[in-house]
Amino acid sequence: MPEVSPKPSQGAALILKPLRLGPLEIDFPVVLAALAGFSDLSYRLICRSTTAPFCTTEAMLDRQMLLDGKLRRKLIKLDPADHPLAGQIMGFDPAVMARAAVVLAEMGFDVIDLNFACPVRKVLSKKRGGFLMSRPDIALETVRLVRAAVPEKPVTLKLRRAFLETDAEHAAFWEIARGAFDLGVAAVAVHARSVDQKYRGRADWDFLARVKAAFPDRTILGSGDVLTAADALRMIRETGVDGALAARGAIGNPWIFRQARDLAAGRPPFQPSLEDQRELILRHFELAREIYGLRRAVKIMRNFGIHYAHIHPHPAKVRMAFVGIKSETDWRAVMEEHYGAAQNKTVFSGVGGEATREASQVDESSGIILASASPRRGELLKRIVDVFRVVPSGIDEEPLRERNPVGYAVRAAIAKAETVGGAYPHALIIAADTLVCLENEIFGKPADRNEARDMLAKLSGRRHRVVTGIAIYRKSADRLLHGHETSWVTFKALEPEAIERYLDTADYLDKAGAYAIQESGDALVEKLEGDYDNVVGFPVGKVRDLLLEFERPATGAAKT
Ligand SMILES: Cc1cc2nc3c(=O)[nH]c(=O)nc-3n(C[C@H](O)[C@H](O)[C@H](O)COP(=O)(O)O)c2cc1C
Repeated sequence: MPEVSPKPSQGAALILKPLRLGPLEIDFPVVLAALAGFSDLSYRLICRSTTAPFCTTEAMLDRQMLLDGKLRRKLIKLDPADHPLAGQIMGFDPAVMARAAVVLAEMGFDVIDLNFACPVRKVLSKKRGGFLMSRPDIALETVRLVRAAVPEKPVTLKLRRAFLETDAEHAAFWEIARGAFDLGVAAVAVHARSVDQKYRGRADWDFLARVKAAFPDRTILGSGDVLTAADALRMIRETGVDGALAARGAIGNPWIFRQARDLAAGRPPFQPSLEDQRELILRHFELAREIYGLRRAVKIMRNFGIHYAHIHPHPAKVRMAFVGIKSETDWRAVMEEHYGAAQNKTVFSGVGGEATREASQVDESSGIILASASPRRGELLKRIVDVFRVVPSGIDEEPLRERNPVGYAVRAAIAKAETVGGAYPHALIIAADTLVCLENEIFGKPADRNEARDMLAKLSGRRHRVVTGIAIYRKSADRLLHGHETSWVTFKALEPEAIERYLDTADYLDKAGAYAIQESGDALVEKLEGDYDNVVGFPVGKVRDLLLEFERPATGAAKT
């Protein structure tokens, strides 16, 4: 068990023991989890460059390990720099799993990891992965045969805390964990959610503490809700586990390993500048191209780019830019535009946090005021206005009785502009209101998770309108212009689990229609027609047109 004091906050070192996996000693206990679609060779090498001490492959089917050598080598890419490395396999027949383990050992994997945790329905229906949490007999027979087949290699398990959420006694978990340690596994990694729970709800760290207390002399790795470096150290400190798996927290933030080492040493965690990000993303592209060829590299980097965008100062814009790439040329253009030399001065203030910026100054009486508390609108307005001040209107949304969405959105924007204009009569006020409209039903912001769930279920598989009303107002000049923008969004058909997963991100809060395309909501979207910024809540082009018109002598045309 690691030393657990003092707190791993900045400035106070946390003494951590190296991680033991049988004969292997891993120098630092925060390691890269198995991540389908992400812990491929290219990203593992990237993570190693940011000091990840140990990595696990994506889950691989045992049967695929038995393919002939050439096919197998196409599937499994290895590199001498990518060690120590665990190869994770998944299957239902203990004998096939054992044969696959032999192949992995011969290929040079340092650890054989058995996946008894995967909750994907297709995997469960084939009696693989998490299914084995309901069948300790098959799970332990698998461990027994694998251990016998590769006695020289450390074998580890990835478990969930139970199969069903309602398995309060966790009997199968204890049977598998105990039996596996008796059979000589080197470590057990526990994702502290049930299989049934998939990724919903919080991971049960108390359960991790119980597991460690039950096996004080064995290596236990904890998994679940390690979204930052500080979470990883907190998990180790609070539960006593020997190591933490960085999973979702490592996707798009490979610096999490370096940040964890910094925090453990009592140093401020490394914050990658935009230049650091640029360099690493370009290197990732080169690695992917070398390993998989150009076509696949573009696809891979599109996928990763969406996650790298998370720590860019303009995450939404960059994420959408990555979504649109189809070729190397597109890719380079996105990199140049968003990570180019002109952008390199930005420094980040927190782990995956917001960019620090100079506070905008504006003449209280006559400058430009954005009448919105929304940071997204502020970011978008910065594209066309250098200096402005934010003064939220404080207007509560009206009950949505109006049947005409454009009328409603414009009226709401005008009400906001007039409220703020009353306090700043000489200032130019910009206000906006965005809503989502499915046929005749208008969705504002959901009051709670249940309402958000209802909205997303209704939007699932259908095309809806996003309408933003805009008002530009200067009270002292008695001048008001208004306009609106409409975009169309088609949602993917969403399984209830996908909706729950999305709700778990809490990105639905404070968003019309319960989703934010610029955050994880883009995963819900099949197709967007029209202005992307409008879906984010602020159609910059339309606002710019209205501002230009506002500067011209009034014709009365749009004045109300
Ligand atoms: C996209 C994705 C792919 C995953 N693929 C695997 C996998 O192939 N094998 C595995 O054992 N776990 C897999 N997991 C589970 C993670 O390793 C980890 O246990 C889980 O995400 C909980 O940690 P977190 O809440 O910190 O993300 C995956 C998780 C995600 C989000």
